[in-house]
Amino acid sequence: MVSCGAFQSFFFEYDTPRIVLIRSRKVGLVNRAVQLAILAYVIGWVFLWEKGYQETDSVVSSVTTKVKGVALTNTSTLGARIWDVADYVIPPQEKNTVFVMTNAILTVNQSQGHCPELPDEKTECPKSSCISGYVSSHSSGIQTGKCVPYNDSINTCEVFAWCPVEDDYHIPRPALLQEAENFTLLVKNNIWYPKFNFSKRNILPTISATYLKNCTYDSHTDPFCPIFRLGKIVEAAGQNFQEMAVEGGVMALQINWDCNLDRAANHCVPKYSFRRLDSKDSGHTVSPGYNFRFAKYYKDSHGKELRTLIKAYGIRFDVIVFGKAGKFDVIPTMINIGSGLALFGVATVLCDIVVLYCMKKKYYYREKKYKYVEDYELVSISESRVKAKLLPSLTVAIF
Ligand SMILES: *[C@@H]1O[C@H](CO)[C@@H](O)[C@H](O)[C@H]1NC(C)=O
Ligand SMILES: *[C@@H]1O[C@H](CO)[C@@H](O)[C@H](O)[C@H]1NC(C)=O
Ligand SMILES: *[C@@H]1O[C@H](CO)[C@@H](O)[C@H](O)[C@H]1NC(C)=O
Ligand SMILES: *[C@@H]1O[C@H](CO)[C@@H](O)[C@H](O)[C@H]1NC(C)=O
Ligand SMILES: *[C@@H]1O[C@H](CO)[C@@H](O)[C@H](O)[C@H]1NC(C)=O
Ligand SMILES: *[C@@H]1O[C@H](CO)[C@@H](O)[C@H](O)[C@H]1NC(C)=O
Repeated sequence: MVSCGAFQSFFFEYDTPRIVLIRSRKVGLVNRAVQLAILAYVIGWVFLWEKGYQETDSVVSSVTTKVKGVALTNTSTLGARIWDVADYVIPPQEKNTVFVMTNAILTVNQSQGHCPELPDEKTECPKSSCISGYVSSHSSGIQTGKCVPYNDSINTCEVFAWCPVEDDYHIPRPALLQEAENFTLLVKNNIWYPKFNFSKRNILPTISATYLKNCTYDSHTDPFCPIFRLGKIVEAAGQNFQEMAVEGGVMALQINWDCNLDRAANHCVPKYSFRRLDSKDSGHTVSPGYNFRFAKYYKDSHGKELRTLIKAYGIRFDVIVFGKAGKFDVIPTMINIGSGLALFGVATVLCDIVVLYCMKKKYYYREKKYKYVEDYELVSISESRVKAKLLPSLTVAIF
């Protein structure tokens, strides 16, 4: 008989949750306000602003650069000298970046030999003693142990090194290649969005060859000209070119290709922006700017090996390409609609908190919302029904 009751309750009953309808202006308004906020978030932010209906892809790109310009210098050591691209772009080509030398310390006709070290606390003698074989990370060479005159007033330790040693205590100021301000940088950038098979380049189809010959980039008048005056790049980043040219630095030329591919392809255009990447506050950095050394080797008429050592200061221009393209797609649309609908559950949770914990009549509402059931032993409930609820499959099996 017991099992028969369980069988009946398992197959011939249906249970459904009961919904409590609260007739309260306060709760009703809170509920609708929360729902409205969620609706505004889903439609306004997720769909319209963040374009939640689009599939997105990030950019794949290639960059090539070309610098143009010549500079004339006239110094006491070198005489008059012309600097062209092959002199000041080091190395001739690099990936996504170009280094333009703006200042230099040249030490010509260095050869292997013995000569006095640069004077500092450690090398001035006889204040400090010269030790044969001594070398430190700041040394130009290896000490021989002798003390020799550096100039008329100072003696320094003799070193075996490339002689004469480079004197870089005084950086040329103003910079050697001031005219670098007027050099131009042509940036050719091809991009590709693989997911949409969409490709484009920064020399737009609307740009004619004659325009390209003599345009220079200007954010207001020529925003799509891919030729940049170096001075303009630095100024656009809020820096002073001549100041930066003395000790060097690193600049970023950013190309942003954010595109909405639901619109026509000619709306997808590059946006250029510029910023300085290295720390600009030269007063607060111990080693400001950007420099490195390289040498050119040659032989004199007697076959002796000589070199010209160049400590190059300059500005490195890093071309940074980034961007995201979006295009309508069913799957992200469905996912965002689904998660938007799920968010409406938040309104219920919030309103429940208000009704059951914050309102004056909260005990009354609790009474109405929950059906209270006392412990099994206190109330006599038909045993069979409880068992049937707990172990329906088991009882069916017994039967
Ligand atoms: C370089 O400077 C010297 C002296 O200052 C001058 O005589 C010479 O004409 C200059 N050369 C050029 C090409 O300007
Ligand atoms: C470098 O060496 C060459 C040839 O030996 C000579 O003509 C020139 O004057 C030297 N330059 C300096 C700065 O010593
Ligand atoms: C010798 O060199 C030191 C350090 O560069 C400098 O301070 C000093 O004036 C020089 N003396 C002469 C006579 O050139
Ligand atoms: C750059 O060019 C402008 C105009 O052609 C000129 O006025 C300026 O002096 C040049 N700058 C330098 C550092 O030569
Ligand atoms: C990608 O686009 C190019 C032309 O823009 C076309 O020739 C090529 O077939 C396309 N590739 C695919 C996989 O659709
Ligand atoms: C191009 O050059 C011509 C003549 O040399 C000049 O009139 C024109 O203003 C230049 N255009 C630009 C954009 O600089």
